[in-house]
Amino acid sequence: MRKLLTLLGTAFFLLLATVLIYLFTLPKFTEPSTEIIEANPEQLARGDYLFNAVLGCPVCHSERDYSQFGGPPVAPFGGGRACSDTGKPLPGLAESGGLPGTICFRNITPHETGIFDWTDGELLRAVREGIGKENQALFPIMPYFIYRNLSDEDAQSVVAYVRSLEAVDHSLPDTAINFPVNLAIRLLPDPLNSPVPQPDTNNPIAYGKYLSTVARCSFCHSPRDSRSRQAIEGLELAGGVEFQGHNGLMYSTNLTPHAEGLGEMSEAEFLALFRRTTDPSAADINLMPWTYYGNMSDADLSAIFAYLQSVPAVSYSP
Ligand code: HEC
Ligand code: HEC
Repeated sequence: MRKLLTLLGTAFFLLLATVLIYLFTLPKFTEPSTEIIEANPEQLARGDYLFNAVLGCPVCHSERDYSQFGGPPVAPFGGGRACSDTGKPLPGLAESGGLPGTICFRNITPHETGIFDWTDGELLRAVREGIGKENQALFPIMPYFIYRNLSDEDAQSVVAYVRSLEAVDHSLPDTAINFPVNLAIRLLPDPLNSPVPQPDTNNPIAYGKYLSTVARCSFCHSPRDSRSRQAIEGLELAGGVEFQGHNGLMYSTNLTPHAEGLGEMSEAEFLALFRRTTDPSAADINLMPWTYYGNMSDADLSAIFAYLQSVPAVSYSP
């Protein structure tokens, strides 16, 4: 019996040591690329559009005005915002829940207190692969697991644009994530090993799928398994994801063509939702940044609509 216990004890100790050693060798990362992005006018224009209408960077990385419909980000864009206190959500980011430590919406402008000394390769790697300047794993509120779907071309345009932002003097405390979450997040970054091609912008369904992925519509509107956090297969875009809104719990809506979703909605009505400047019926409208997405072109919102109409119609109530 004692022998068995010693054996089990040793096995357990070895297992623990292996797991710890493994975790300390993570995150997986590759060296940042040495490319220098040219930042030509087309890239800057595309980057401006992606940053300010599609990807939501300023929604997190700027102050927001919650007295206005949709809580739009306010200038100067990208200068960073408050930090979480342990156990509290990030201010203005209801979906973040209680957080394990000090996590800030960082200053991503080219100021010394921001990303002044980052290379283009380091910025590309942070946005799509979740690796910070010190080769550490970024906390996954930064949606790198979504932005890894950004094409190489679009990612380069975003980085070119970020570099052109007005420099904002705003220093924030260092990120400090508590044990054991600091180790657990090391499992998340996953280097991109192959080029990500540009989607076919002339195919509305394919392009709409790309946009609704990188704009995070699919993320907020697809039910996820409470443990694995993976989207539940067969229920993509079916809504019902719970959020802590400013006035209590709220649920994302069904975006599939089911009658409970967008089945009865015309393309014009869909576009009109994003062009609103007020919504008298909404008690708590700030979770989804409507006016921010309202900066998208008609063609792009129509492509998103075309894609949403093409997915299987499903009904779901949590
Ligand atoms: C949902 C909120 C959210 C969105 C959207 C978002 N970020 Fe972040 N981002 C964060 C948070 C929180 C951190 C800090 C993570 C940490 O400290 O580990 C961060 C970190 C970063 C960093 C690393 C900065 C540093 O000093 O370490 C860069 C660069 C960055 N974000 C760029 C972007 C860009 C570009 C976009 C848009 C393509 C974007 N972010 C969209 C929340 C967000
Ligand atoms: C941060 C999470 C989040 C993101 C990102 C998000 N949504 Fe939503 N969305 C919600 C929530 C929560 C609601 C329900 C409450 C509300 O209306 O604000 C909602 C409501 C909606 C509605 C129903 C509006 C109505 O009045 O019938 C539509 C349509 C919609 N979202 C489409 C989209 C599209 C398209 C995108 C991407 C461009 C998107 N959402 C991105 C959380 C999100």
